[in-house]
Amino acid sequence: MKIGIFIPIGNNGWLLSENAPQYQPTFELNKTITQRAEHYGVDFVLSMIKLRGFGGKTEFWDHNLESFTLMAGLAAVTSKIKLFATAASLVMPPAIVARMASTIDSISGGRFGVNLVTGWQRPEYSQMGLWPGDEFFATRYQYLAEYIQVLRQLWGSGHSDFKGEHFCMDDCRLSPRPQAPVKVICAGQSDAGMAFSAQYADYNFCFGKGVNTPTAFAPAAAKLIAATAQTGRQVSTYVLMMVIADETDAAARAKWEHYKAGVDEEAVAWLGVQSQVDQKSGADTNVRQMADPTSAVNINMGTLVGSYATVARLLDEVAEVPGTEGVLLTFDDFVLGVEAFGTRIQPLMRSRAAADSPVATQWAGAAVAEG
Ligand SMILES: Cc1cc2nc3c(=O)[nH]c(=O)nc-3n(C[C@H](O)[C@H](O)[C@H](O)COP(=O)(O)O)c2cc1C
Repeated sequence: MKIGIFIPIGNNGWLLSENAPQYQPTFELNKTITQRAEHYGVDFVLSMIKLRGFGGKTEFWDHNLESFTLMAGLAAVTSKIKLFATAASLVMPPAIVARMASTIDSISGGRFGVNLVTGWQRPEYSQMGLWPGDEFFATRYQYLAEYIQVLRQLWGSGHSDFKGEHFCMDDCRLSPRPQAPVKVICAGQSDAGMAFSAQYADYNFCFGKGVNTPTAFAPAAAKLIAATAQTGRQVSTYVLMMVIADETDAAARAKWEHYKAGVDEEAVAWLGVQSQVDQKSGADTNVRQMADPTSAVNINMGTLVGSYATVARLLDEVAEVPGTEGVLLTFDDFVLGVEAFGTRIQPLMRSRAAADSPVATQWAGAAVAEG
């Protein structure tokens, strides 16, 4: 199974809690995390784009770096790990994103890919006068379909004359072109989002669900399999999960309860309001899951809480879900979390026996002994 890390481009990572580690998103922090991840053979890092925070006592996500410029910096200080930036497609024309991707491809030596998002939080864009109106909720994946066709034409041939409803290219050029195919992530969960992924993306990312229920996202993976049966394309599922690990199950559980006790109610309330704005994309969207009060302290992403051995076992269960190629991890404390993943969790994972890590996995060791 592939492993990625959703690096903390926004303050405090993914915990809306006064009791969680409080930190700013700096290049140095993300460099440390990414270099340590590379050291342990983690396959990729991804950064999101977030243009407006949730406020509250923790000023949640009020402080965010920009995704492409961060990944360009990380490309220059790594050599192996793959890097994905997120394009805010509403405010970044595809010909510019194509060229930024070519540039980071050049810096990284072909290790770069793009996560395409339509945007789901109106204030991120209305604050700039660039929100097209709420009818966009219904048409956003048609817009993205045109967007990706322009990208692929420019990356593929260096030229686009695409004519659509949203984009009109006129002998548009791109050179240099990327040396390696620029892989595209989409994280659509709505019917339109999944259909987009099945038609155009290389990977579809989805939210994990629940605490220590590592296979609860299986219906989303199954939905993608059904959607790709229509398009005949190979697109795999990656699932987003938070890891809260410690020496014992009890110690990890105590941390999780502590974070929940410090939940930033004001930030969570803001998320609740935002998640109701889109009434056009159908009921099955991650956005409404994020605001569910059950575990809004970490926007209800799937959470694995336990000893290093417990988390390793739960991650191996993720790998068994049909259609799943990888998992995208967040941590309560990213620096300690990556270290613990590399030295304590990954070596116990059967699904990571092939990882290119200096810390040999238990299963790789067993295979050598048997061989
Ligand atoms: C791993 C992951 C990363 C995401 N990154 C971003 C992001 O950077 N910016 C953003 O506006 N939305 C982001 N989203 C939201 C998705 O793009 C998408 O809008 C959401 O999952 C709801 O699906 P839908 O668009 O089909 O309704 C992300 C979602 C996931 C699961």
